[in-house]
Amino acid sequence: MERKRLLYLISSDPRVSPFDINMAYDAGFDAVIPYAGADVSSVTGLVQDIMFSRGPKGARFSSVFFSGSDLTAAEEMLAAARRSLFEPFLVGLMVDPKGGYTTAAAMLAKVAALAKARGLGEIARLRVLVAAGTGGVGKAVAAMAARDGARVTLTSRRPEAAAAAVREITSLFQAGVEPRPAPSEAELARLAREADVVLATGAAGARLLSRASIASLKGPKVLADVNAVPPSGIEGLNPQDDGAEIAPGIFGLGALIVGALKNKVEAALLKDLLAAEKAPVLDGGAARRKAEEILASG
Ligand SMILES: NC(=O)c1ccc[n+]([C@@H]2O[C@H](COP(=O)([O-])OP(=O)(O)OC[C@H]3O[C@@H](n4cnc5c(N)ncnc54)[C@H](OP(=O)(O)O)[C@@H]3O)[C@@H](O)[C@H]2O)c1
Repeated sequence: MERKRLLYLISSDPRVSPFDINMAYDAGFDAVIPYAGADVSSVTGLVQDIMFSRGPKGARFSSVFFSGSDLTAAEEMLAAARRSLFEPFLVGLMVDPKGGYTTAAAMLAKVAALAKARGLGEIARLRVLVAAGTGGVGKAVAAMAARDGARVTLTSRRPEAAAAAVREITSLFQAGVEPRPAPSEAELARLAREADVVLATGAAGARLLSRASIASLKGPKVLADVNAVPPSGIEGLNPQDDGAEIAPGIFGLGALIVGALKNKVEAALLKDLLAAEKAPVLDGGAARRKAEEILASG
């Protein structure tokens, strides 16, 4: 009997993002079933119904993807799902809150390669500034860079929000990141001058650094932006820039370049989920490894 490949998309948000639904169909799932407004207390029951309904041999044809803008909720739901599974009823699991892990993994892989190519050295030796880092992408990329050994500072316009983001990063990923308030562009530019790498992770359409601020920076530095909605996070950095020198000694990575690799990473992880005999658990670490693998394969 041919089994349908099903993906249950579970999110703490009131609506499940069509982004992940589209990606999952394109990866080859036969059906994607969204569950919005979920919390950790609903996960065990859902997972048990998913695993038992198709029998020991059929369980692996179902997979579960945890999404939503709340990182802690997504990680707690993943942990609850892992606790619920036992052999032979194994179901593949993936977590990518609001695309944050795959975007962060793609951004960091591209930045690390560019920094090396431009003589800044390994990411582990660099000072990384995550500007407007209180969203899912910012927290994820700060954690990944810190776990790679970089000295990471994360900013917010509000001191208490920066501190809360860092507490969440420490608790979820055991990664050391320094919180810094940047209530004005002038303060953000001052912090950028102290960094080797600036990662702009602000909300869609939020301009963080102007051309004048970029002109005040001294190279060599790498600047990257994930905001593809005009105006870009960094003025003068085109969404299609892939290592362009946007000011003397300042090399830029635009949002569409990061986005192209992000989409490849998410597609490849979804295909792994679809094809794997042994139900895998695909988390931020898996996204990070996949981004490096794809980049290395050219
Ligand atoms: N390229 C890709 O592949 C890709 C994929 C996914 C997401 N994205 C993009 O990645 C970015 C980050 O996504 P996210 O969901 O993590 O972001 P988010 O939660 O929407 O926003 C991140 C932070 O931006 C700050 N912010 C909001 N409005 C601002 C303004 N007017 N000026 C300065 N700062 C402002 C806020 O920080 P404070 O209030 O703490 O200052 C907010 O917490 C977005 O631009 C999103 O569109 C790109």
